[in-house]
Amino acid sequence: MKGLILSGGKGTRLRPLTYTQAKQLIPVANKPVLVRVIETMHDAGIADIGIVVGDTHADIERALGNGSPWGVNLTYIPQASPDGLAHAVKISQDFLGDDRFVMFLGDNVIQGGIATLIDDFSRSEWNSQIVLKEVDNPQSYGVAVLRPDGSIEQLIEKPKNPPSNLALVGIYMFDPHIFEAVHAIKPSARGEYEITDAIQWMIDHHYRVFPHVHGGWWVDTGKALDMLEANSLVLEELKPTIATDAIIENSQIDRRVTVESGARIINSVVRGPTIIGKETVIENSYVGPFTSIYHHVTVLNAEVERSIILEHSSVLNIGVRIQDTLIGRYATVQRSDDKPRAMKMNLGDHSTVWIL
Ligand code: TTP
Repeated sequence: MKGLILSGGKGTRLRPLTYTQAKQLIPVANKPVLVRVIETMHDAGIADIGIVVGDTHADIERALGNGSPWGVNLTYIPQASPDGLAHAVKISQDFLGDDRFVMFLGDNVIQGGIATLIDDFSRSEWNSQIVLKEVDNPQSYGVAVLRPDGSIEQLIEKPKNPPSNLALVGIYMFDPHIFEAVHAIKPSARGEYEITDAIQWMIDHHYRVFPHVHGGWWVDTGKALDMLEANSLVLEELKPTIATDAIIENSQIDRRVTVESGARIINSVVRGPTIIGKETVIENSYVGPFTSIYHHVTVLNAEVERSIILEHSSVLNIGVRIQDTLIGRYATVQRSDDKPRAMKMNLGDHSTVWIL
């Protein structure tokens, strides 16, 4: 079985970070989401993986290369414009050939992996298997209606009156009949070739489409708050380690804290689950639970909780606690005592700041 990861798209909901970075390369618990997706596929025994890429092609290729560090073989499939998930399948036909395949959205994180799922599908005669999850707000998702025999009868996009609470998760398995569907469907009202329309086409043409209801957590990291949620969930499962060359002086470090190579923690309190990245310095500070601080960051005289701070950024001399915050690369948040005393900002387009 082959793998297909969708890593193009626009990432508008994660601006301004996505002006300069592929959203799939933003780390949760200090590892890019896309790398987590590749590891999930590898753990399920899939080695031959196609990655659909868009404008951020070069960054993604630079980060992943040919996949050998993760024991997989990557093929890049350029998508000229983000015309929808079914369009991404259509342009991958040459790569996928006659194989059955699993398709995974490159910005999704799932608990517990997909090995059982892959095993079920590869032994079944089903034409497609779709991962579903019970959610509290099915109005916000694509929702499935099941038949008494357990197969899927209908998929409805963001229903006002949801017929079930079973939402589509970003993981789908298909046999080559999906190509008939992606060639047959027309773009939706928003101008995209929708994967739900392609699956509905298969159902309407009497192909067998079955669900797998996922019991663990699953997060689509498409928005900043979802990214923080995924970060918390992954951190909770991380086995903590302290690098032998990390320096910890006069500090309290919780037992659920991971400290990476070359990091320095001085006169500080760090509560887990938290990860402190390579060569990062935490000094006279408090770093609270559910925080991921990436490499080469400085946190000095500050308090940070339930946040993600990306590489080469600084948080300096802040009098209030920073919480539920996503800070990009090479960013600085600092106190200024210059007169006149005021909040001074230099924000990128589409930034948001919540002021106390
Ligand atoms: P989305 O999050 O639905 O789309 P997006 O990345 O354009 O985000 P936004 O709505 O914030 O602008 O896409 C899910 C995943 O699929 C994501 O990893 C991007 C990828 N994708 C493609 O590879 N090609 C496409 O045509 C689309 C629409 C998405």
